[in-house]
Amino acid sequence: MMKRFHVTTFGCQMNEHDSERMKGMLTSLGYEEADQRDQADLILFNTCSIRENADNRFISYLGEAKRLKSEDPARVVGVGGCWAQSVKEDVFRRFPFVDVAFGPGQIHRLAEFLNSDSLTAQGYFEFEEFAGDLPAHRARPFQGWLQISQGCNCVCSYCIVPSTRGREQSRDPLALIEEVERLAADGVREVTLLGQNVNSYGRDLPADTRIRFSDLLRRVDGLEGIERIRYTSPHPKDMREDVIDAHVELPALCEHIHLPLQSGSSPILKKMRRTYNRERYLDRVAMIRGRIPDCGLTTDIIVGFPGETDEDFNQTLEVVDQVGYDGAFTFGYSPRRGTLAAEMDDQVPHPVRKERMAALVELVQERAKQRAQRFIGRSIEVLVEGPSRSDPSRIRGRSRHNKAVNFDGTAEPGQLVEVEIETATSQSLSGSERLLSGIGV
Ligand code: 5AD
Ligand code: SF4
Repeated sequence: MMKRFHVTTFGCQMNEHDSERMKGMLTSLGYEEADQRDQADLILFNTCSIRENADNRFISYLGEAKRLKSEDPARVVGVGGCWAQSVKEDVFRRFPFVDVAFGPGQIHRLAEFLNSDSLTAQGYFEFEEFAGDLPAHRARPFQGWLQISQGCNCVCSYCIVPSTRGREQSRDPLALIEEVERLAADGVREVTLLGQNVNSYGRDLPADTRIRFSDLLRRVDGLEGIERIRYTSPHPKDMREDVIDAHVELPALCEHIHLPLQSGSSPILKKMRRTYNRERYLDRVAMIRGRIPDCGLTTDIIVGFPGETDEDFNQTLEVVDQVGYDGAFTFGYSPRRGTLAAEMDDQVPHPVRKERMAALVELVQERAKQRAQRFIGRSIEVLVEGPSRSDPSRIRGRSRHNKAVNFDGTAEPGQLVEVEIETATSQSLSGSERLLSGIGV
């Protein structure tokens, strides 16, 4: 009987990509994917530690893994990713039924463990070079991730990531281009460049191979078969003209930028150690809007950072109103172990945080809905992903602006089609597939 694995993924797109690589590696080791955890011989969790509720969600799953392991002690339980890295060997003390634990990006270590005869629990938490070209088991054949760097050199005072993913290391540009060529040959039409801070890409490379992020975008754009390029996440401090111009010049680069604001108040941004202030952020937005007409803009915002006053929070509301994002992820501040902000003594009381969050979400949605009206009556390009979640008789896809689009039509996953937009909410657009007449379409 073939051994079976199950991977549960928490957290960001980088983790999703790591999980795809984990699955690809396990398949090449002769394992088969199980649909459910209780059918698997190898139960894996790829964890996140960005906020406290991410930790808690995952820990509630561990109870089930413990039960499954006690039912069949031959089962292997593995915990990878940022939470594992943040607690290191403690994981074995707190959860003795865990067999193997490893930090983010250390998937090859999992193979090492599986191939060893070790009976004792093993932990792998050294920061290393990029783990090499593991085949990824992609969720959709026509979309692929490209991890361009690992780690982060920023020192944002709230963030656990620099301690879970280590210093920034950019991958060699030639290796990246070869990887995209392979993806394209394998049917990928949309590629998403991933990094903790994508637009600082290349600064750590040796002088003879060093290229800028915008150069990398240009090279990927030139590759046959790649019709859409996305990237996440850029840092506002590194959002320079060359990257913005790339959006104008490169046909495959999508009209969408996710530009994390975090706070609209300059004093709070300073305490967050974001290295930009409100004016500089707004100046980047003005440059984007000036040069890339119709660009979709989304953001991340933290509510209730230590010391955030009503006035600071109002500044955030003002920026949200002024920019008019197409969407925003809003997070209540969560103190993380080992970060500077967790030591700050002016933590915002929970009820205040909750109230601010409600006001922010309302404004974000109102502005996103208003912004989305600009698509009504237009025909836009959609990459089809599958059936609509709310109504399976309809089709779902994404526009170049990264808007979810639900529509009536006959298109198949992986196709690029034109959709006429009829209605728009803050979350999604709705319309019908345009039937193209003529030959060759
Ligand atoms: N508390 C709340 N939100 C956080 N984020 C990162 N760290 C924290 C924290 N400690 C948010 C930021 C980041 C997004 C991925 O998660 O907004 O951009
Ligand atoms: Fe979570 Fe951040 Fe790690 Fe991604 S990098 S898994 S968001 S802690």
